[in-house]
Amino acid sequence: MDIAGSVALVTGGASGLGAATVEMFIEKGAKCVIADLNEEKGKEFAAKFGDNAVFVNCNVTNTEDNEAAVKTAVDKFGKLDILVNAAGIGSASRTIGKDGPTNLDWFKMVVDINLIGTFDMIRLAAWEMSKNEPNEKGERGVIINVASVAAFDGQIGQASYSASKGGVVGMTLPIARDLSRNGIRVNTIAPGIFDTPMMQLLPQAARDSLGEQVPFPKRLGDPPEFAHLCCAIVENAYLNAQVIRLDGAIRMQPK
Ligand SMILES: NC(=O)c1ccc[n+]([C@@H]2O[C@H](COP(=O)([O-])OP(=O)(O)OC[C@H]3O[C@@H](n4cnc5c(N)ncnc54)[C@H](O)[C@@H]3O)[C@@H](O)[C@H]2O)c1
Repeated sequence: MDIAGSVALVTGGASGLGAATVEMFIEKGAKCVIADLNEEKGKEFAAKFGDNAVFVNCNVTNTEDNEAAVKTAVDKFGKLDILVNAAGIGSASRTIGKDGPTNLDWFKMVVDINLIGTFDMIRLAAWEMSKNEPNEKGERGVIINVASVAAFDGQIGQASYSASKGGVVGMTLPIARDLSRNGIRVNTIAPGIFDTPMMQLLPQAARDSLGEQVPFPKRLGDPPEFAHLCCAIVENAYLNAQVIRLDGAIRMQPK
């Protein structure tokens, strides 16, 4: 699918990987709906792009917000072609701590945002995409999910995060199969460690040490490298139902 002329909805689009994707899509001629919880940052970021972007305040755990985000794409830009599910949170809590079992509500919250929020957005966006006229290759839409290498090599304290991202990996194939009759492709990117605001909370020494653990190149990933893969997924009509690790060959250790 051509990026130029397409309309994308990017959750978590106000920061990090989502923001880099918004920026690259717009550079290549797309219009973007930036759906994020962070209203202040999201509005300021969207303003950089004038009429090519719009911000919607959206908590992906709230179906009404998600419906409104999809509707904004249609109302403002006339259609929806691309969904990137980049909203997400991390987690760090051992299954049992020194004082007792971990908080189950925390586990549920991470799964609710990272997995159920992703699925809710997919089902709503795919319905809208299914109304598109197919392009010359028969495509009506492209969906990109964001998992993590923690779906495969989860570390100590990452049970909820790994469960949520593993769920995203696991549903990629069945959803791609579901949507094949509608001409909608579904792929998932599993990033390694990227230099985003999430990571920038760590001290420089800790970030350097993480970078050293990457076989090659020996550094954290750059958000535009993630955005570049999103563009490649959109543009390559034969790429479907894939989970692609983007990680400089890192395999995470237990801690
Ligand atoms: N940075 C990394 O190293 C890395 C590695 C693997 C996977 N990921 C995944 O990539 C995605 C993006 O991460 P990032 O590093 O860009 O983080 P980030 O914190 O910079 O951006 C995440 C964005 O999601 C938004 N968000 C959080 N919860 C939300 C909700 N309930 N509804 C709507 N928006 C919400 C935040 O406001 C923020 O703008 C996440 O799913 C994360 O798990 C990141």
